[in-house]
Amino acid sequence: TYVIAEPCVDVMDRACVEECPVDCIYEGSRSLYIHPDECVDCGACEPVCPVEAIFYEDDVPDEWAQYTADNADFFSGVLPGCGEPVGSPGGAAKIGPVPADAPVVAARPERDT
Ligand code: F3S
Ligand code: F3S
Repeated sequence: TYVIAEPCVDVMDRACVEECPVDCIYEGSRSLYIHPDECVDCGACEPVCPVEAIFYEDDVPDEWAQYTADNADFFSGVLPGCGEPVGSPGGAAKIGPVPADAPVVAARPERDT
Protein backbone atom coordinates (compact mmCIF):
# COMPACT_ATOMS: atom_id res chain seq x y z
CA THR A 1 0.00 0.00 0.00
CA TYR A 2 0.88 3.63 -0.14
CA VAL A 3 0.78 5.78 2.99
CA ILE A 4 -0.08 9.42 3.64
CA ALA A 5 2.32 10.87 6.20
CA GLU A 6 2.74 13.99 8.30
CA PRO A 7 3.03 16.64 5.56
CA CYS A 8 -0.68 16.20 4.72
CA VAL A 9 -1.84 17.06 8.24
CA ASP A 10 -3.72 20.40 8.22
CA VAL A 11 -2.79 20.87 4.53
CA MET A 12 -5.14 18.45 2.75
CA ASP A 13 -4.48 19.56 -0.81
CA ARG A 14 -6.63 16.70 -2.15
CA ALA A 15 -4.90 16.52 -5.56
CA CYS A 16 -4.25 12.86 -4.78
CA VAL A 17 -7.95 12.04 -4.56
CA GLU A 18 -8.53 12.91 -8.21
CA GLU A 19 -5.76 10.54 -9.32
CA CYS A 20 -6.75 7.38 -7.51
CA PRO A 21 -8.42 4.88 -9.87
CA VAL A 22 -10.01 2.92 -7.03
CA ASP A 23 -11.17 5.88 -4.89
CA CYS A 24 -9.37 4.57 -1.82
CA ILE A 25 -8.12 7.90 -0.42
CA TYR A 26 -10.47 8.93 2.38
CA GLU A 27 -10.84 12.28 4.04
CA GLY A 28 -10.68 12.75 7.79
CA SER A 29 -10.80 15.96 9.73
CA ARG A 30 -7.12 16.97 9.52
CA SER A 31 -5.60 14.54 7.03
CA LEU A 32 -6.41 12.12 4.28
CA TYR A 33 -5.80 8.38 4.59
CA ILE A 34 -5.16 5.55 2.13
CA HIS A 35 -7.06 2.34 2.77
CA PRO A 36 -4.33 -0.34 2.92
CA ASP A 37 -6.54 -3.14 1.61
CA GLU A 38 -8.10 -1.14 -1.20
CA CYS A 39 -4.96 0.56 -2.57
CA VAL A 40 -3.73 -1.34 -5.63
CA ASP A 41 -0.28 0.28 -5.52
CA CYS A 42 -0.80 2.10 -8.79
CA GLY A 43 1.30 4.98 -7.49
CA ALA A 44 -0.60 7.70 -9.36
CA CYS A 45 -1.22 9.71 -6.21
CA GLU A 46 2.38 10.01 -5.09
CA PRO A 47 3.81 12.51 -7.62
CA VAL A 48 0.85 14.90 -7.53
CA CYS A 49 1.01 15.77 -3.84
CA PRO A 50 2.50 19.27 -3.62
CA VAL A 51 3.93 18.66 -0.14
CA GLU A 52 5.27 15.14 -0.85
CA ALA A 53 3.17 13.48 1.83
CA ILE A 54 2.65 10.16 0.02
CA PHE A 55 5.08 7.24 0.14
CA TYR A 56 5.13 3.60 -0.84
CA GLU A 57 5.01 1.70 2.44
CA ASP A 58 8.64 0.57 2.22
CA ASP A 59 9.79 4.13 1.60
CA VAL A 60 8.09 5.97 4.46
CA PRO A 61 10.81 8.04 6.16
CA ASP A 62 11.70 6.77 9.65
CA GLU A 63 10.49 9.95 11.34
CA TRP A 64 7.00 9.27 9.98
CA ALA A 65 6.99 5.47 10.35
CA GLN A 66 4.00 5.54 12.67
CA TYR A 67 1.83 6.95 9.90
CA THR A 68 1.72 3.54 8.21
CA ALA A 69 -0.23 2.06 11.11
CA ASP A 70 -2.14 5.30 11.55
CA ASN A 71 -3.51 5.09 7.99
CA ALA A 72 -4.70 1.55 8.75
CA ASP A 73 -6.14 2.60 12.11
CA PHE A 74 -8.38 5.11 10.40
CA PHE A 75 -10.26 2.15 8.93
CA SER A 76 -9.98 -0.38 11.74
CA GLY A 77 -12.89 0.62 13.91
CA VAL A 78 -15.75 2.99 14.37
CA LEU A 79 -14.42 6.52 14.55
CA PRO A 80 -16.04 9.13 16.75
CA GLY A 81 -18.63 11.02 14.76
CA CYS A 82 -18.97 8.28 12.17
CA GLY A 83 -21.55 5.58 12.74
CA GLU A 84 -19.80 2.72 10.98
CA PRO A 85 -16.35 1.54 9.93
CA VAL A 86 -14.93 3.47 6.98
CA GLY A 87 -14.19 1.65 3.72
CA SER A 88 -14.53 -1.99 2.57
CA PRO A 89 -16.71 -1.94 0.59
CA GLY A 90 -14.68 0.92 -0.74
CA GLY A 91 -15.45 4.24 -2.27
CA ALA A 92 -14.29 7.40 -0.56
CA ALA A 93 -16.58 9.64 -2.60
CA LYS A 94 -19.76 8.07 -1.33
CA ILE A 95 -18.70 8.40 2.30
CA GLY A 96 -17.38 11.93 2.05
CA PRO A 97 -15.33 13.63 4.77
CA VAL A 98 -15.34 11.89 8.14
CA PRO A 99 -15.21 14.26 11.13
CA ALA A 100 -12.47 12.31 12.90
CA ASP A 101 -8.82 11.34 12.61
CA ALA A 102 -6.58 8.39 13.37
CA PRO A 103 -4.71 8.61 16.71
CA VAL A 104 -1.32 9.88 15.52
CA VAL A 105 -2.85 12.64 13.40
CA ALA A 106 -5.33 13.58 16.12
CA ALA A 107 -2.54 13.93 18.68
CA ARG A 108 -0.40 16.13 16.49
CA PRO A 109 -0.28 19.86 17.40
CA GLU A 110 -1.89 22.15 14.88
CA ARG A 111 0.42 23.24 12.12
CA ASP A 112 1.38 26.92 12.03
CA THR A 113 0.62 28.26 8.62
FE1 F3S B 1 -2.71 15.41 1.46
FE2 F3S B 1 -1.06 15.65 -0.51
FE3 F3S B 1 -3.30 14.37 -0.88
S1 F3S B 1 -1.51 17.19 1.02
S2 F3S B 1 -4.68 15.38 0.50
S3 F3S B 1 -1.67 13.76 0.48
S4 F3S B 1 -2.33 15.71 -2.32
FE1 F3S C 1 -4.79 4.99 -5.26
FE2 F3S C 1 -2.44 5.93 -4.71
FE3 F3S C 1 -3.03 3.48 -4.12
S1 F3S C 1 -3.60 6.39 -6.49
S2 F3S C 1 -4.43 2.87 -5.71
S3 F3S C 1 -3.93 5.26 -3.26
S4 F3S C 1 -1.11 4.20 -4.85
